[in-house]
Amino acid sequence: MRKILLTIFCVIQVQISWANDGYKLWLQYLPFENKAVAEYYRDYLENIVLIGNSPTHSVIQKELEIAIEGFFDMKNKPGINLNPSTALVWIGTEKELSKDILPELQSQINQLGDEGYILKYLHGKVIVTAKGNAGLLYGTFALLKQIQTREKLENLDILENPKIQLRLLNHWDNLNRTVERGYSGFSIWNWHRLPHHIDQQYIDYARANASIGINGTSITNVNANALVLTPEYLEKAAALADAFRPYGIKVYLTARFNAPMMLDNLSTADPLNPEVQDWWKKKTAEIYSYIPDFGGFLVKADSEGQPGPHNYGRTQADGANMLADAVKPFGGIVMWRAFVYNEKTPTDRIRQAYDEFKPLDGKFRDNVIVQVKNGPLDFQPREPFHPLFGAMSETPLMMEFQITKEYLGQETHWVNLATMWQEILQSDTYAKGKGSTVSKVLDGSLHEYKLTGIAGVSNIGTDRNWTGHHTAQGDWYSYGKLAWNPDSDIQKIGQDWLKMTFSTDSDFVKTAQGIMNQSYETLVNYMTPVGLHHIMARSHHWGPGPWVTGGERDDWTATYYHKVTKEAIGFDRTENGSNALAQYAPEWKAMWGNPETTPLEYLLWFHRVEWDKKLSTGNSLWDEIALRYQKGVEGARWMQSEWTKMNGKIDEERFSHISSFLAIQVKEAEWWRDACLLYFGQFSGIPLPAGVEAPKHDLNYYLNFKRNFVPGI
Ligand code: GCU
Repeated sequence: MRKILLTIFCVIQVQISWANDGYKLWLQYLPFENKAVAEYYRDYLENIVLIGNSPTHSVIQKELEIAIEGFFDMKNKPGINLNPSTALVWIGTEKELSKDILPELQSQINQLGDEGYILKYLHGKVIVTAKGNAGLLYGTFALLKQIQTREKLENLDILENPKIQLRLLNHWDNLNRTVERGYSGFSIWNWHRLPHHIDQQYIDYARANASIGINGTSITNVNANALVLTPEYLEKAAALADAFRPYGIKVYLTARFNAPMMLDNLSTADPLNPEVQDWWKKKTAEIYSYIPDFGGFLVKADSEGQPGPHNYGRTQADGANMLADAVKPFGGIVMWRAFVYNEKTPTDRIRQAYDEFKPLDGKFRDNVIVQVKNGPLDFQPREPFHPLFGAMSETPLMMEFQITKEYLGQETHWVNLATMWQEILQSDTYAKGKGSTVSKVLDGSLHEYKLTGIAGVSNIGTDRNWTGHHTAQGDWYSYGKLAWNPDSDIQKIGQDWLKMTFSTDSDFVKTAQGIMNQSYETLVNYMTPVGLHHIMARSHHWGPGPWVTGGERDDWTATYYHKVTKEAIGFDRTENGSNALAQYAPEWKAMWGNPETTPLEYLLWFHRVEWDKKLSTGNSLWDEIALRYQKGVEGARWMQSEWTKMNGKIDEERFSHISSFLAIQVKEAEWWRDACLLYFGQFSGIPLPAGVEAPKHDLNYYLNFKRNFVPGI
């Protein structure tokens, strides 16, 4: 048994650093703000004993050293003392804990799963314990969070288990280092230098993810390149897996469905063909020879040009099960995406995934989990929850959220995504009566799923601050926290993140959180109010494009979705229209089936409404749309003016960075309002109501506004 005592010999110097590029994310470990605070934590931080020996223990020790250096603004690393007699913080797994402590904690330890942890104040000591190493690492980060957020340690009595088993980031990163829908630079995976160079950024990536409980990463784009399955790339992926392993993070790869044809010239990729099945079995065994704890495959099939079982007249279950059989002997899983739709299918695009997957419920192997986007269309600013949630009692479903802001202004808009995610997670599917929330589908409690999971499409790139907007780090953070527990309190998540990332100053936290709380509704108002959707520019999806029509696919246009005429606007999804509404529970059908009882947020998602129709607000539809666009612009300006008050509260570098992005956001909010109102106004023929500012330019200006090389395609 190895015992390590971290001891600090330093004079506390409290000072605010005025340059901060944000690279350290929420692991800033900012210096204590005054002597009293520093003295309080000093006793504990000077006397930590970490018991045990493993690669994870080494990273725990390292993290403690980094934290202590930051908290005390030390120039040198703390000394290490092997005498544990004065220890006030004990960190060790169940196996490693002292016999004196263990009996008192045993009943709580018995409640722990593999990745859970306990933080407990007991007889004058802080105990961090877990069953396994990953839990111990999570517990250590939880302790550091307590200190970062200035919680008292004497009250500690925390027992945490993750509610969801698979908590993944999905990188849409291409092998040439471009990132599909990535707006924060290039891919952080430097394939050319791998496997020999393990960049510090990979380690910091793993630290950040482990600190929020993420335990898996799918490192390649769902629009997959089969090359990643070749030895050249497997060797590189294995090097990443080795780097991530001590942090409890497994690597997953995207599998291109026709890889047997592309890599080995098989004449078919038919999932029922024995030769194809055999190819995948051998390929899988090869992958495991490189990465012994490989997590499994993520697959996009039969969607947007990707090959899949449809090419051979087979079902999604046939395709998924073939891969599931290949990974099964190694303990791997298959995450099969439900984002399957086709322009040749004559029905409303948003009903196609349900139509395809619902009849297959119960037909998937037990190591398949179907990955479903939060809404039935495609990461719009606001969508109702996907109707598959609650509808698949025999097939585990996992959530796919998009952390990168493809349709939400991309990296320059401050939008607190946790607000949107909470709206979805707390939506009631009514699958088993009231209270059957999406979160209960995901944590497995509703249908007793054996496999549970959640994925977030990453917003990370080579930008110095990882995510383009400093505040988008908060989306990565809150995603991890909601993945751990989808019923978490997002206000607490936001406060913790602000304190750890910027400052514990209460005025700052209150103001910044106020901005965060308004940000989502503000964005929906200036982009897609009253249930409008998919009205952004073609292809790159940046900026307004309600006029987008024609081209190769109708279901990629704006007019497909808003169907504007001189009389009305909106998509009728009731039984008089596409009847996509039929995919929801009777409670929703009753509410959303009637325009009078449909909340305005979803009105044009489910209904066609005449321009002069009087709504519950007392406004006509046209006035309501116009006033909401205006409200969105005013909301963005308010966010900007609130932020201005924070000058001097945090470091100048991040303050200015966020300020300049807010200026972009205000400008773009005006652009959205003006362009959409001018375009739709041609049809409504009604003047703008009082209180809505006149557009800055005419419609032609917006129609012809083009930018080259918008990122992320
Ligand atoms: C959206 C996005 C694509 C992405 C796709 C997917 O359509 O625009 O870039 O590939 O979602 O989720 O597969």
